[in-house]
Amino acid sequence: MNLYIGIDVGTSGVKCLLVDTNGSVLNSVTEKYGVSYPHDGWCEQHPDTWLHATVKAVKNLVINVDKSLIKGISFGGQMHGLVVLDKDDLVIRPCILWNDGRTEKETAYLNEVIGKRALSNFTGNIAFAGFTAPKILWLKENEPQNFAKISKIMLPKDYISYCFTGVFATDLSDASGMLLLDVKNRCWSKNMLDICGISEDMLPTLYESYQCVGLLKEEYKKEFGFLGDVKVTIGGGDNAAAAVGTGTVTTNSCNISLGTSGTIFISTDKFLVDENNGLHSFCHANGKWHLMGCILSAASCRQWWLENILESDQYGLDDAECNDIKTDGLFFLPYLVGERSPHNDVNIRGAFIGITPQTTKRQMSKAIMEGVAFALKDCLEIAKKSGLCVKKATICGGGAKSNTWKQIIADVLNVTMNTVMTEQGPSFGASILAMVGAGEYPSIDDAVSHMVKLSGSILPIQNNVSYYENKYQTFVKLYPSLKQIFN
Ligand code: XUL
Repeated sequence: MNLYIGIDVGTSGVKCLLVDTNGSVLNSVTEKYGVSYPHDGWCEQHPDTWLHATVKAVKNLVINVDKSLIKGISFGGQMHGLVVLDKDDLVIRPCILWNDGRTEKETAYLNEVIGKRALSNFTGNIAFAGFTAPKILWLKENEPQNFAKISKIMLPKDYISYCFTGVFATDLSDASGMLLLDVKNRCWSKNMLDICGISEDMLPTLYESYQCVGLLKEEYKKEFGFLGDVKVTIGGGDNAAAAVGTGTVTTNSCNISLGTSGTIFISTDKFLVDENNGLHSFCHANGKWHLMGCILSAASCRQWWLENILESDQYGLDDAECNDIKTDGLFFLPYLVGERSPHNDVNIRGAFIGITPQTTKRQMSKAIMEGVAFALKDCLEIAKKSGLCVKKATICGGGAKSNTWKQIIADVLNVTMNTVMTEQGPSFGASILAMVGAGEYPSIDDAVSHMVKLSGSILPIQNNVSYYENKYQTFVKLYPSLKQIFN
């Protein structure tokens, strides 16, 4: 049976999966790397860190495998990062990541001077600090010598695909997060290129996520020991790839991802924009569209609490300990690096509210899970106001390993959480895209119905639903009360 590789170029590491055409995962390798924080609120990574980690991970992935069976590769990738190359294809500076908050001024310029209405007409979206266009404006203003050198602008996964194939390409789901794409018409927006002072030849050719862009170069084939042609399919932004990997491809189907960021992703057959552009309106990896809310810190809140504060790696223990605990009056705001959806505020920071002498470690652990769930509810409420109806969702990402957390999210959102057999959303989705791109399946729908299998369901517990509905009414008052302090 033919084999495919799905690569997720993530924030905490690169995750590679080896998958057969029935959807069985034969091997999985993660190569971790760090993020550099050159100033408070800035987040960067060097693209060559991703490349080296990817090459190492793929080599380990295929060690004991019949390499003639490997027919294709595709990608999911952290979105919005600004990767810039000069005329000799050298990386000009480290990538400015999706959760970087340096572009407050440029974001305000786009939203207030160009205007939200104009931006929404050009792209289907308004500016958020993590998007790529404000970063291009920041570079122009703050590092003009680097801006002048730009020959190519690309996104994180596209850098790996470019190194692997020599083809300068991106896909529509990932390109949507640049604020340079006319999402409705699936083409670059000339207006946005003019606003940013760049030309179309600096941008990659646009493909659908399931399209093959070329063959793996000989040098990499040799390095990995592959024998025949290996087709490289461009893949999608990590959330769109995860949506494919969890079967979130029909209207109103929803996927929740608990990675470094937390996202709520709702698939739609038609292009759709909510009233205040609170959610991102992006292309989907299946040729259609989606609405998405993104909170910047999700599983990263729990990681911070457990690893940095409690100095523990006992995630399972923490999970079991906070299962039956009550957290009345205790709140956690998960804004560790500012917040994207819906507040669009780079200055806000995380907080515990309501600590008493009786507050315990377990309660604080649970409040963290609840705070992330409430922040996701902020996004879901906007989707509901736009007429979308979400009754059930799949859930994936590192945070989804916690049963307590999944139940809390089901209760807070009042939505049934379905789990899938393969929880590695983006890399599994990437492997599906690789198969469609290589012609193994005629369409994403076909591949998904064959390969994505549900493994269980967590129903909301109605007593908890009303408890959390009350608690949420207080949660929504906390951000407005605190934001002035941080500004
Ligand atoms: C989505 C977003 C994050 C990153 C994380 O808009 O910024 O989910 O893609 O990898």
